[in-house]
Amino acid sequence: MTNIQNIFKQSNVAVVTGGASGIGLAAAKHFAKAGMSVVIADLGGEKLANARAELEAIAGQEHVMAVETDVSQKEQIEALERAVIQRFGRVHVLMNNAGIGPETSIFSAQSGWDNILAVNLLGVINGTRTFGPGMIAHGEPGLIINTGSKQGITTPPGNPAYNISKAGVKVFTEALEHELRNTERAQISAHLLIPGFVFTGLTKGDRQEKPAGAWTPEQTVAFMVESLERGDFYILCPDNDVARPVDERRMAWAIGDIIENRPPLSR
Ligand code: NAI
Repeated sequence: MTNIQNIFKQSNVAVVTGGASGIGLAAAKHFAKAGMSVVIADLGGEKLANARAELEAIAGQEHVMAVETDVSQKEQIEALERAVIQRFGRVHVLMNNAGIGPETSIFSAQSGWDNILAVNLLGVINGTRTFGPGMIAHGEPGLIINTGSKQGITTPPGNPAYNISKAGVKVFTEALEHELRNTERAQISAHLLIPGFVFTGLTKGDRQEKPAGAWTPEQTVAFMVESLERGDFYILCPDNDVARPVDERRMAWAIGDIIENRPPLSR
């Protein structure tokens, strides 16, 4: 068995933030199909209830938990962690994935800035700092997967708050991986998911149909799992962003030889 199959196995536990739709829900379904218990944390309402029902149909009620959580609020993440540990005892996969992306500009008086940074960046930091110590302490193999974006690497124009938040996620996840490698007891590794253009609530706009070239959340998750099996740190989906094509030179510069030369993670 590969390391990943050892992690995605019966009786292990995955927590996915932003797990009520899109990439997060597709990931939660994948984990549930692999036999894991899954916890989805998302803003409440019908979307969360529907997602929970979909997951229960796969894994059974006893293996599913859906918790109304705003990831930008540290005390809500802490309450989530307490509830998960009380119910399932330990966590093996943490996917910090919740994200929002309304357009921003630097000098307009928009109020969206703080919220984008709080959800996309602080949410990832809150999740990792809250769940990480327990994941290290139990000493079993595990993964922390943070969802970044190509926009946090190549900075296309038009959405600076989002770009900054995702650049922060990249740097934070790199720092996390360094720290994990230097933590004696840690059996967990960190990974940065960098999706291409995925057809979800975040990107749909008025479109009913998936544009040619866009990926489904399921395709993204399948690619993520393949990359994890290889031990990739950067889970870099091929560029398919027709709206904001990636500047390949800047991408190569930013990830550059690290992605070529980095040894596979093996724990
Ligand atoms: P989505 O909108 O389907 O999923 C995002 C989920 O996060 C939603 O269920 C939403 O309710 C939840 N969420 C929003 N604010 C929250 C909060 N404060 N606390 C908890 N949950 C919250 O969109 P998608 O595309 O699945 O997004 C998932 C991640 O992928 C995001 O971090 C996004 O930035 C990232 N991403 C998506 C791309 C795409 O093309 N769809 C491309 C690159 C990155």
